[in-house]
Amino acid sequence: MHVAVTGANGFVGRHLLARLAGRHQVRAIVSERPGAERELPNGGAGVDVRRSDVRRAETLRGAFDDVDAVVHTVAVPTERAQRFAEVNVAGVAHVVAEARRAGVRRLVHMSALGADPASPYPYLRSKGEGQSLVTGSGIPHVVLRSSLLFGEGDDFFPRLRISLLFPIVPVPGDGKARFQPVHVDDIAQALVAALERAEISGPHEVGGPDPVSYDEMLEEAMRGLHKRRMTVHVPVPLMKAPAFLMGLVMPDPPVTVQQLDLLAVDNTPKPNAMEPVFGIRPRPFRGALGYLRGR
Ligand SMILES: NC(=O)c1ccc[n+]([C@@H]2O[C@H](COP(=O)([O-])OP(=O)(O)OC[C@H]3O[C@@H](n4cnc5c(N)ncnc54)[C@H](OP(=O)(O)O)[C@@H]3O)[C@@H](O)[C@H]2O)c1
Repeated sequence: MHVAVTGANGFVGRHLLARLAGRHQVRAIVSERPGAERELPNGGAGVDVRRSDVRRAETLRGAFDDVDAVVHTVAVPTERAQRFAEVNVAGVAHVVAEARRAGVRRLVHMSALGADPASPYPYLRSKGEGQSLVTGSGIPHVVLRSSLLFGEGDDFFPRLRISLLFPIVPVPGDGKARFQPVHVDDIAQALVAALERAEISGPHEVGGPDPVSYDEMLEEAMRGLHKRRMTVHVPVPLMKAPAFLMGLVMPDPPVTVQQLDLLAVDNTPKPNAMEPVFGIRPRPFRGALGYLRGR
């Protein structure tokens, strides 16, 4: 199969390319950021590399010509240089339009648990609108609605490490919101199954094997880093002012005001399609964060 992967140099994209290597012909689509192609596995050796900015439809023109299937992973989790509406919504519309024009036969889309056009949270609303564009595209599709991802190179758990710099670690809300972290390579394998197995279709919720609370995730980060800290639960509204100030002075703050809201919302798949649909037994999260020490 000839497969195009958008966001190919991203966290999911890199792991997916590693899984596709030697199995399918790959077109790696990276952003227009200089040097993005050097972040591909093996520096992009063995894959056809293209550049596009999904916000601008014309940069996608021809990107899917001669391609059987597209995996779309591009999204932004926070609004900094780019807006949710431009990337997570219009970007998906441009990918769908180009896939339709090129006659792509299968579209696999990375969505997120809680993605819903009616969500009160702007990120999840934009992911929901993007997902609806895929499910309404008329192109045979699979959507992975994923819980939080972990693994070497993730962007979330190293941020917990920053919070451990404080002698007493502030925890947003009651710390009881539940997540089901899933290893990025398990997601890469599920994406490959979504590409290869025609009987899989539509949206599926996916996560790791066990639900864990935010408090337990913090415990795991401490265990991975061999650090012990006391924690204090702080109501989310009280943490918004410091998060807002960090956003003013730091180019990449550990947490944004919008993310604080999401940390207090349950993020578990109902039901978890990893094993029954994709045939993948997800690896455990507990004891898996030792890679944080090497950062
Ligand atoms: N990570 C998680 O915990 C998680 C959980 C649930 C769902 N998801 C979903 O999984 C998908 C992949 O996430 P990820 O963690 O791999 O994200 P990531 O590491 O941030 O990768 C995103 C990719 O999109 C590219 N990109 C950003 N803006 C672009 C634009 N305007 N045009 C073209 N490319 C652009 C980035 O390029 P640059 O490198 O140049 O920025 C990067 O290659 C997303 O759809 C996300 O919503 C992720």
